Amino acid sequence: MSNPNFIAPSILSADFARLGEQIAEVEANGADWIHIDVMDGHFVPNLTMGPFIVKTCKRISKLPLDVHLMIFSPERYIEDYAAAGANRLTVHVEASNQLHRTLQTIRQLGCKPGVALNPGTPASILEPILHLCDLVLVMTVNPGYSGQEFLPETLPKIRQIREMLDKENPKALVEVDGGISVHTLPQVKEAGAQVFVAASAIFNHSGGIATGLRELKDRLGKLAL
Ligand code: DX5
Ligand code: ZN
Repeated sequence: MSNPNFIAPSILSADFARLGEQIAEVEANGADWIHIDVMDGHFVPNLTMGPFIVKTCKRISKLPLDVHLMIFSPERYIEDYAAAGANRLTVHVEASNQLHRTLQTIRQLGCKPGVALNPGTPASILEPILHLCDLVLVMTVNPGYSGQEFLPETLPKIRQIREMLDKENPKALVEVDGGISVHTLPQVKEAGAQVFVAASAIFNHSGGIATGLRELKDRLGKLAL
């Protein structure tokens, strides 16, 4: 498979007092998408952003907005996130008991549907819905917070899902999220990922945001050679 690669900075680690400046900085330094982590305090322990933040990002950035819904019964809210300007809407397989309808509705609303799985969820759960998604998000930490350590046990699952997609839906992308850094990026890329989400490796980099993003892009570029 030769799908293109994308880097998606997650604004979960951004300084929200300077969100506009920081989004402009990642945009100027080659970010491909903006990743927005929506958490409901139930599906994951943390509470974060609602449609209002998506709308703000839409106003200040031209980049595609990759909205990761870590909320129970996401079908209740997808219309709101689509209206706010999400380009991609990804729901967790563990959080919806009507996945076919949810994914179809996301597409009808003009967004690209994605499904996410937690580290403890087996790849086989995706079999019935692979043809309906444009993206599978493999969580490489348990969702809820940025700055957690990458779980290497997720590598075989990334490989397995890429192989499943190559058979069923080859254009669909595999995205990885959690603990992605210059050290883990080569491993997840080798396993078959095309989209790399990173929060702390970019927004908390000691050399600044531009350096954090450039380091990831350089590493990705070298791997492609
Ligand atoms: C975790 C979120 C991630 C998070 C990644 O629940 O889904 O997108 O922001 O943070 P890092 O890159 O710091 O692990
Ligand atoms: Zn995320």
